[in-house]
Amino acid sequence: MSSEQQLPTRQRRPSATAPIVDIQGSVGPAGVTRPKHRRTFTGFGAQEIKGVEASIPEHMREAWLKHQASGFQNKEQFEKEVVRHVETTLARSMFNCDETAAYAATSLAFRDRLIIEWNRTQQRQTFADSKRVYYLSLEFLMGRALDNAMLNIGEKEVAQNGLSELGFRVEDIISQEHDAALGNGGLGRLAACFLDSLASLNYPAWGYGLRYRYGIFKQEIIDGYQVEVPDYWLDFNPWEFPRHDVTVDIQFYGNVSKTTDESGKVTAHWQGGELVRAVAYDVPIPGYATPSTNNLRLWSSQASGGEFDFQKFNNGDYESSVADQQRAETISAVLYPNDNLDRGKELRLKQQYFWVAASLYDIVRRFKKTKRAWREFPDQVAIQLNDTHPTLAIVELQRILIDLEGLDWDDAWNIVQQTFGYTNHTVLPEALEKWSVGLFQHLLPRHLQIIYDINLFFLQMVERNFPKDRDMLSRVSIIEESQPKMVRMAYLAIVGSHKVNGVAELHSDLIRTTIFKDFVTIFGPDKFVNVTNGITPRRWLHQANPKLSALIATKTGGPEHFLKDLTLLNKIELSVNDPAFRKEWAAIKLANKQRLADYIKTTTGVVVSPQALFDVQVKRIHEYKRQQMNIFGVIHRYLVLKSMTPEQRKKVLPRVSIFGGKAAPGYWMAKQIIHLINSVGSVVNNDPEIGDALKVIFLEDYNVSKAEIIIPASDISEHISTAGTEASGTSNMKFVLNGGLIIGTCDGANIEITREIGEENIFLFGNLAEDVDDLRHHHTYGQDHKIDPSLDKVFQAIQSGTFGNADDFNGMVAAVREHGDFYLVSDDFHSYLETQELVDKSYADQELWVTKCITSVARMGFFSSDRCINEYAEEIWNVEPLKPETNSGVPKTEL
Ligand code: IMP
Repeated sequence: MSSEQQLPTRQRRPSATAPIVDIQGSVGPAGVTRPKHRRTFTGFGAQEIKGVEASIPEHMREAWLKHQASGFQNKEQFEKEVVRHVETTLARSMFNCDETAAYAATSLAFRDRLIIEWNRTQQRQTFADSKRVYYLSLEFLMGRALDNAMLNIGEKEVAQNGLSELGFRVEDIISQEHDAALGNGGLGRLAACFLDSLASLNYPAWGYGLRYRYGIFKQEIIDGYQVEVPDYWLDFNPWEFPRHDVTVDIQFYGNVSKTTDESGKVTAHWQGGELVRAVAYDVPIPGYATPSTNNLRLWSSQASGGEFDFQKFNNGDYESSVADQQRAETISAVLYPNDNLDRGKELRLKQQYFWVAASLYDIVRRFKKTKRAWREFPDQVAIQLNDTHPTLAIVELQRILIDLEGLDWDDAWNIVQQTFGYTNHTVLPEALEKWSVGLFQHLLPRHLQIIYDINLFFLQMVERNFPKDRDMLSRVSIIEESQPKMVRMAYLAIVGSHKVNGVAELHSDLIRTTIFKDFVTIFGPDKFVNVTNGITPRRWLHQANPKLSALIATKTGGPEHFLKDLTLLNKIELSVNDPAFRKEWAAIKLANKQRLADYIKTTTGVVVSPQALFDVQVKRIHEYKRQQMNIFGVIHRYLVLKSMTPEQRKKVLPRVSIFGGKAAPGYWMAKQIIHLINSVGSVVNNDPEIGDALKVIFLEDYNVSKAEIIIPASDISEHISTAGTEASGTSNMKFVLNGGLIIGTCDGANIEITREIGEENIFLFGNLAEDVDDLRHHHTYGQDHKIDPSLDKVFQAIQSGTFGNADDFNGMVAAVREHGDFYLVSDDFHSYLETQELVDKSYADQELWVTKCITSVARMGFFSSDRCINEYAEEIWNVEPLKPETNSGVPKTEL
């Protein structure tokens, strides 16, 4: 047996004659001799250097080795880098270096630093040749990158000192950055937290998404109404690397023909149509306290074949040649601003196919470099579908395997199923994606054929196994036999994946027992798992709340410990009765509230007292999240205050109700809710009788960087969705982690938060998910739909014009009174008000309140996205971390 045969497949070394290097076109032979000079570098094992080094063409090695030292070492070196970037890269002079230039130069200095580790990580992963995870998400809500890079690399202090010597405050420089807002809400931010955890835990992982020219719109509030303004964020973005050499031409439209060879094998050919070019843009994702730096690859669309069609141009048809180019660019131009709502636009389907086809091409190309057999594909590749948006990847991989690679259907389908995992994010019917068969036929004719075949084989299996349940076939068919016929994307995702997961226990139970019940019967229960969401403590504690992070670090052996293992938070529970710790804790909360009060004053002009109870609801505006119930509660409070004597009012605990969030531009009811909040705010905030007792604030343009200011300042936050509608929620976790308490319904992750922190530390109210159907039924068919008297008074106040033109809010009132109150506001209102009273009483006892807050934070360890990613890795992906300093990636010839 040769030495090569003895090696396990994972470590199989390249043959001596095969080319092993393929970095952006450079190809070199294996077994090259090592240069004489060698250095050992921090964070990159000497063994790894050897492995990678062997892939560098010999004449470049000396220079490459010199380049390997990383880190700024000290502030002088950092300053030197900043000055160099100001004076050369930016072509400015230190003489007129303002904050914008200082931000640009600082970012470029950190980017240089990141990119060295990025390259090393990619090389390490390439040589290790182990399984990689690919996270496909149409949204990545990354927020700002500079602060995150500084903290994850561990060089914020160096930067702070260096910038200070240059005359800048690090906070001012950080706040120059434009948020990368390529997402709507929870789903996109989850993807961003996952990338942070994947890198921090050293998993070989890539994110794949779209590089929208316009991210989520900027929200302006004009006369109390939401106005949408485009968010052009790419003016200066130092965090991306265009890869003009990594391009893929993506096909649309056209037609399909079939040929049969001598053996009778039929092959489909998809021809004609239109080509659009996908160009890769890479964003480095630094892990926390590890050199691992993963990659987020975002695709941008361009006209295929260059700038514009020269043929047309030369024929004098200049306009149409430019129009073609613009049409191609439209694909990645804009993020669809809907959250939990499917609109079925052709361009959206085009975006989806463009993105998954480019990503799969890249993944398959990388796999093919290893020269492995196709059956090994699922041992090397795990692809996670973040919701149904990337479901076409299932069809595309099947197409690649059968049409382009010549595999049999069954072999190919086996590979596909083992490769994919699908995460469901909602049970709301209006959010479940469906596409018309006609649109598919037109845009992706070959894919529609494959979907029909997938469905045929699936239904044949169902028929064989459940011959007595004829109705089941139409219930589970991927094609809905409606007018027009529709492709049900969630069903396709389930059939094409080996695991399907929900994002919190209740949600996973609900999908198993309601929308996907038949599929549990068909595939068995093991295919359906739960992975409760998590958040990264690096951004949501360390970065957003540096003072609290520092205080916690004093009890947990330093930030690098609890930020890597969040369960260590439990150590602070030992200090819950320590007066010095408690005092410091309360002082930090007050300082965070003062920071938010200052921000409120600068942005809205309203002065709020940091001594008041800060009550926060920030999230997308949606009827199921029930901001309307919150504002009705605020109106109730206002009416009660108005009915008091001045003496009575003085005794009331002051409260600031803070709202923030965007409404989808076409979602009329959500826009009404924003308008009502603002109208109530302008009445209440200007009512001299009320003073500090109540203030109502709507913060414009809620986004990730604003969340970092708002969340640490909250005393109580509202997570009050109709039970059974919010899949998980993740802001609930962020608020508690920052020492705020929750008022919430028994929904999503609120339930598990309660289990972890204890019932005595959360304010739960409202009907349970199991009662929702009955209540709705009663509203529609029962005779006695009574509105709670307090809610009735609120409606009367609205309708009498207390908050401006009553007609503006008719729809909101009618939704409850006349249209069946689908979100059960009237059913939960009474218990909501009672619970708010309890909040007031509890807050009045500050000693007990602080105890609740400290205890809750101590018990939040479970909600780290690190735990969550480890669960995905173990239960769904079957991948292992690849730690720096290992030998696994080193070709054996070099050891
Ligand atoms: P890809 O896997 O071909 O997309 O390459 C991504 C990155 O991995 C490259 O930019 C390199 O940093 C690294 N890489 C890929 N293949 C090689 C190789 O053969 N030698 C060294 N580095 C590689």
